[in-house]
Amino acid sequence: MPPVPPSAPAETSPSGRFVTPRAWAEAQLGAAAELLLEQAHLEKKAAAAAMQFLFRLPVQVPIGLHRELSALAREELVHFERTLRLLGQRGLAYGPQPPSDYAGKLKAALATTMPERLVDELLASAVIEDRSHERLLLLAEVFAATDAPLADFYADLAAAESRHGPTYVEVAAAVLPADVVVARHARLRAHEAAVLHALPFAHRLHSGWPES
Ligand SMILES: [Fe+2]
Ligand SMILES: [Fe+2]
Repeated sequence: MPPVPPSAPAETSPSGRFVTPRAWAEAQLGAAAELLLEQAHLEKKAAAAAMQFLFRLPVQVPIGLHRELSALAREELVHFERTLRLLGQRGLAYGPQPPSDYAGKLKAALATTMPERLVDELLASAVIEDRSHERLLLLAEVFAATDAPLADFYADLAAAESRHGPTYVEVAAAVLPADVVVARHARLRAHEAAVLHALPFAHRLHSGWPES
């Protein structure tokens, strides 16, 4: 049976952005094992995505952005290793996990032709990083009372993810003009809000919170 969250309204900010209610994180208490397993997979995927962008970015993009993206990829691998260590310390196995619907549904709205496709993929990564940052912070808050090491882990990850979203936006703005990037970013954020409103709640970082 899928977990059922206590009822709480999902909020939407004036910009149309989905604001995750604190109750979403409270409903994750007791699900540390599921969350940690998923976190390991998320970090590995984040590192792979950053590496793929390094190969796809035009070489004319300023060299500093190639370096930032490389550093981001390394940081995701450090997160992956740290998550694996935490799994081991808690006697939890690292195993397979089915993909969540979040990324697939988010990517359904991306352009299909270049260079807009590359920019949209970079901006989708920015949206995912920003959502991760928001939810990791919430998890750090709610686990602080019962599981300080886990809360510290989430707070450390959140601090890094807060830098990754802006990096992806900056890289996108090196591919297409800034005003085009701003508009496409806003469109993707609105799409992500709709995706989250439609997804069911689950013990996953990017699960939904359906309005009751
Ligand atoms: Fe990460
Ligand atoms: Fe990240």
